[in-house]
Amino acid sequence: MPVKALYPGTFDPPTNGHVDLIQRGAKIFDSLIVAILVNPVKNPLFTVEERVEMLEEVASPLGNVSVATFNGLMVDFARQQGATAVLRGIRAISDYEHEFQMALMNRRLAPEIETVFLQPAGRYSFVSSRMVKEVFSFGGDVTGLVPPNVLKRLRARINGGS
Ligand SMILES: Nc1ncnc2c1ncn2[C@@H]1O[C@H](COP(=O)(O)OP(=O)(O)OP(=O)(O)O)[C@@H](O)[C@H]1O
Ligand SMILES: [Mg+2]
Repeated sequence: MPVKALYPGTFDPPTNGHVDLIQRGAKIFDSLIVAILVNPVKNPLFTVEERVEMLEEVASPLGNVSVATFNGLMVDFARQQGATAVLRGIRAISDYEHEFQMALMNRRLAPEIETVFLQPAGRYSFVSSRMVKEVFSFGGDVTGLVPPNVLKRLRARINGGS
């Protein structure tokens, strides 16, 4: 049976760490849905629509990756989409504790869904959306840490002041 996986996250903005994981996921799953959690509490820099556009530019060259948005319980959305696997990334031990808790809670909620952890290439193991925003906002160079389309939007958003 084809395996459909969900890759949930905030993606505010997508980084090359996310892209690395999406590319690895696209190789091992028959299809992959990148799912943006709509969480207004997090006060995001980019709107959900902007994040969809940025991720679609990453997904479109890969034939089996699509982009969606959801709110509420991730496992409810996974079930609704017919996904039987959830993809998550582990950058360092610091990610592990939180990811481990979430995976086990999700297993309790939806025992038929497996969480699969992948490691990014070492050069992305320190990259997070939060760090990218922080460094960029103080004038630091984030070239190579985010896709070119994301860099363009960061420039427009932060330097352009809109
Ligand atoms: N550089 C990376 N390498 C591998 N996995 C990553 C990387 N960045 C994020 N992930 C994984 O992608 C998933 C979604 O992450 P999320 O949207 O929270 O990104 P983030 O970069 O951690 O953002 P934030 O800094 O806002 O928390 C999580 O499983 C996270 O561990
Ligand atoms: Mg995070």
